[in-house]
Amino acid sequence: MSIDAELTEQTRKRYDRMAPIYDGSEAVMERFLYVPWRRLLWSGVEGPDVLEVGVGTGKNMPYYPHGVHVTAIDLSERMLSRARKRATSLGLDVDLRQMDAQALDFPSDRFDAIVASFVFCSVPDPVAGLRELGRVCKPEGEIRLLEHMRARDEVVGRLMDIVNPIAVRIQGANINRRTIDNIESAGLRIERVEDLSVQSIFRLIVARPCLTHNTVSQQAVQELDT
Ligand SMILES: C[S@@+](CC[C@H](N)C(=O)[O-])C[C@H]1O[C@@H](n2cnc3c(N)ncnc32)[C@H](O)[C@@H]1O
Repeated sequence: MSIDAELTEQTRKRYDRMAPIYDGSEAVMERFLYVPWRRLLWSGVEGPDVLEVGVGTGKNMPYYPHGVHVTAIDLSERMLSRARKRATSLGLDVDLRQMDAQALDFPSDRFDAIVASFVFCSVPDPVAGLRELGRVCKPEGEIRLLEHMRARDEVVGRLMDIVNPIAVRIQGANINRRTIDNIESAGLRIERVEDLSVQSIFRLIVARPCLTHNTVSQQAVQELDT
């Protein structure tokens, strides 16, 4: 599947522009909602080799578990430069790289865990990005996502559809993505979904990569043996 280069470039430029005001614009939500959710997101992460996708300005860094090595990527160089400063001020050794989640420059089965917060609302092709997460995650690894998405309730969902173009213009993120459907379309196995807010708009999702051919054939052999 080909990536929409124009839309990806638009997204990169939008976050480059937003980088200086990003932390300030999120300050209230951060203080009252996101801090406990970020703790929850990172509390179950097991390394040693962890990938953070869409690291932004590095707001998850204070919650990185001790003893893991984090590689963190983002499309926007200006968001990344803020993340670099945050890593330095926290004394963290994070491998920060500019990269597109839709075409990750990592070998398959590379990471023990992959984490992202509020990212797949802005990745132009979320299914392509999520498929890439499944590819670079080890088969026994875990993918943990904190995302906002279209409300479960159809009336509220339709309202979100109407407001979405304005939201994208103002803050760069879609507010009506059907992220659970996207995760399934990407072939990931959802293990757990935790509703964090009213209307299930904010959710923590724990998923695993789909079974590799190898694992499938091993399972099939075991089933034949029993
Ligand atoms: C709403 S911000 C979230 C930042 C951070 N994860 C947080 O929790 O504050 C979305 C981030 O995803 C990044 N992003 C969007 N599309 C991307 C892509 N295709 N590949 C990598 N990063 C992307 C943006 O540049 C931005 O930094």
